[in-house]
This record gives sequence, C-alpha cells and structure tokens, in this order.
Amino acid sequence: MIKKFLDLGYQPLANAYIDKKKLNYKEKKFKLEVGFNKKNYLVSILKTVSKEKMFNKDYPYKSSESNTMQKSFRDLANKLKKRFKPKFIIEIGSNDGAFIKNFKKKNVVGVEPCKNLAQITKRKKYTIYSEYWSQKLSKKITKFKKADLIYSANTLSHIENIDEIFKAVNNALSKKGILIIEDPSLLKCLQNVAYDQFYCEHIYVFSTLALREVLKKFKLEIFDIETTKTHGGSNRYFIKKVENNFYKINKRVKNEIKKELKFGLNKYTTYKKFEKKVKISKQKLLNIFSRLVKKKLTIVGYGATAKSCTVLNYCNIGNKSINYFYDTTSYKINKYLPGSRILIKKYQKLDPKEVDVAYLGAWNFKEEIFKKEKAFIKKGGKFITHVPYPKII
Ligand code: TMP
Repeated sequence: MIKKFLDLGYQPLANAYIDKKKLNYKEKKFKLEVGFNKKNYLVSILKTVSKEKMFNKDYPYKSSESNTMQKSFRDLANKLKKRFKPKFIIEIGSNDGAFIKNFKKKNVVGVEPCKNLAQITKRKKYTIYSEYWSQKLSKKITKFKKADLIYSANTLSHIENIDEIFKAVNNALSKKGILIIEDPSLLKCLQNVAYDQFYCEHIYVFSTLALREVLKKFKLEIFDIETTKTHGGSNRYFIKKVENNFYKINKRVKNEIKKELKFGLNKYTTYKKFEKKVKISKQKLLNIFSRLVKKKLTIVGYGATAKSCTVLNYCNIGNKSINYFYDTTSYKINKYLPGSRILIKKYQKLDPKEVDVAYLGAWNFKEEIFKKEKAFIKKGGKFITHVPYPKII
C-alpha cells in the first residue's frame, strides 16, 4: 500500500549534534526513504527512529530562540483569544513555552516529553506534563474539564502512531472544542523541492487531502485552513468533531484541496517527478559548491538546522566545502553537525573580510537573515540556497 518514491541515503539523527570529545565515535545511521500511501495519500518516511532516541532531555530546538517564531505565536494567541475565546487550552509539544506564555497560567496546560524544555516552563509555574501525548494522558489532564482548544505546532508530524494521537484528542475535546494543528505543507515542500523537510523527526509531511482521510476514521473534520510562512510554508488546520455543528466548513478547505489535486498530490507519478527534481537539485548544488571551492572562496553555513543535515548528508557536502556553520542556538555551539561533521560556531554578523559566501541552512528564515546581514550583502557578500532550486543570491 505504501510505495517508496524517494531515497535520501543513509542519514544520522538530524538533531544529534556531536561533541568534540565524541568525534572519534561512529554515528548510527538509518536509511531515509520516503513513501506515498495510495489509500489515504499520506506521505511518510519508511523507517522510523524510536521517539525516545529523538525526543529526550537533550532536545536542542527551542522555539523562543527565534524572534520570528515568538512573534508568530504571540500574534496567533491573540487571534485565537478573539475568535474562539478558549477557557481551557492544551498544547501538545509546548517546547519552551513560546505559545503558552501568551495565556493565563490557569487556562493552559502544556505537554512536553523533552525534560530540558519542560523544565523551562515549569520553572515559570506553568502546568506541564513531561510525557508523550497519549490516551492515558489525555484522560488524566481532562478528568474534570474537557479542553475547548488543543493546539499543536510542528509536533503531530513527529508522532508515528497517529491513531493514538487522534483518539486522545477525541477524549480530551469538549463538544464544541477544536484542535488546531500546524505543520509543513506537503504542497509547498514539493513546489519548493524542499526535500530537506524529510528527516528522522518528520515522520509525516501532511497534505490536506491526507489529513482529511486520516481524520475521517476518528469522526473529525477540517473546518478551516490558513497558510503560514513558517518552516518554508505550513498549513494551519482547524479541526472539529463531525458532530460539532457550531462551526461551518469554510470554503478555504475546498480551495486548498482543489489546489492539491491540481498539483497531483493524490497521484504516485507526482512523487516520482519530485524524485527526479531532487536528484537534479543535488547535482546543481554540488556544481555550485565545486565552482566556489575551486575559486578558493570562504564558504560558511548559516543556521545549522535539522533540515540542513538532510541536504549535507544526501549531497555528501562536508568541511572541505563549508568551513563552519554559524548558529544562534546555545546548545549547538561548538558542536559538530551530524554526519557532515562541520563545526558550529557562535553566531556573529557575517563579516565580508572573513566570509565570501554563506549557505542558507535556515532558508526558511531568509527574510529575517537578509535583514540582519544587510551590511554583508551591501559589500558584495553572497548566499547559496537550494530552495526552490540551487542558486547564488
Ligand atoms: P529551524 O529551521 O528548524 O526552525 O531552525 C532554525 C535554526 O537556524 C536554529 O538553530 C537557529 C538558526 N538560526 C540562526 O542561526 N540565525 C538566524 O538568524 C536564524 C533565523 C536562525
């Protein structure tokens, strides 16, 4: 039923940044292959890594370290307060609290299995369950009061057992309650040839089509959709119980599905075309690097993202091409990128005297980065991106 369409080679765990002391150890790698389920249109990676290996006390990604993310959570919280007036909110995957901190402590509960992140919000006196989202947990949290809003951004696509997620959501939601989920859009991923959306943590990249099919089984349905720029193009799905007639289905849902069908997200051949584009993208990116290396230019990486791990390992780009990466995340600094083993340095503004070209690992923050690096750009500094096709900017 699930047909493979893309092979991204052997990959390390994308967020397993390496300590200098451990550089001599061999990393465990797994085969990163992506498949399409013809029955429910779901796109997923074929071999998964256990959640305990990926989401534990060493999880490096903190939402609050990005100004863009902070602002987008603040704006969203304000919008949700106005539109839905929620009194009891659960966030699945509350990370370091970037979303829940916009609500009163008594109105919100976070679920965050990564203990290092849960601790940050617990210290601020928020109620956080440091566990994986499950039916058992949903019953515990909503024993006395059901939730009128469950929110989850960039988390559900990380959970393999989606049946368990939606059963737990069904338990926890009040009659009029809604679930809002936000994840990278498959349509955008394919349009942008952003194959780096696939890595160990992204078990699924959802389309509206696939999500609609999956939700049917749990008597849930999408009643509205918003598109956002997050993570290079995401969809925010508003979901309700089918029996809940309080909200009408907005025509945006139909429109999004139309767009997806027009692109062919329901057809295997579309994914095979994508595979061809990915192979071309790899060749073009390698050509750019080899040209620049021949000219003896200094190339650095900008944003040591999990996404860049897929690109570097799939294209076999290492420290002969990229001298080092800059990143703002404290946990990543002075560590090495998994697989490619390129050193990550503490971010400093790009200095044209030291750097000729910067590869955009965090291409999804291109606008924020270009604003920050105005002086570099003005003095002739260049960037490389592979999205939507490899080029020098
Ligand atoms: P993400 O694409 O998974 O959200 O990760 C973004 C990474 O890029 C994160 O490690 C922080 C880093 N980054 C920088 O180093 N500088 C920047 O200006 C931005 C926007 C991100």
